[in-house]
Amino acid sequence: MKILVINGPNINFLGIREPEIYGKTTYKDMLEIISSYAEKQGVEVSFFQSNHEGALVDAIQEAYYNKIDGIVINPAAYTHTSIAILDALKAVGITTVEVHLSAVEKREDFRQISYVGKYACKTITGQGVNGYLQAIDHLKEIAK
Ligand code: DQA
Repeated sequence: MKILVINGPNINFLGIREPEIYGKTTYKDMLEIISSYAEKQGVEVSFFQSNHEGALVDAIQEAYYNKIDGIVINPAAYTHTSIAILDALKAVGITTVEVHLSAVEKREDFRQISYVGKYACKTITGQGVNGYLQAIDHLKEIAK
């Protein structure tokens, strides 16, 4: 099973960025945690991060040609604004789990809409890095 983990803007600043909200684990540490978990689960994992909306759309389209079985995506701030990312996911038709490190539902009003959430088969919030591991579990489970 091939899973692509996509992270949006400012996720590369994990560990530096508002640690009281997003935790002290760095982006690099997070990738190591996800990689070693995926390996144990027998899942082939790849990563993409960008601060640019179009680059995220390109990565989703590329997932189609690379025959990716499942996408785990934290679109970060684009969650709340991007119809382009929603449309890209619909275009490729790849099963997708949405992840947020923080409990977005308990935060500001402007974080209460998720466009990606209209496509994702599951949304995991407020679990920190563990949310990505749960997303892999879910994709594995529904692929059975
Ligand atoms: C986030 C929540 C978003 O509202 C925010 O813009 C982010 C990160 C999260 O992981 O909790 O950048 O997606």
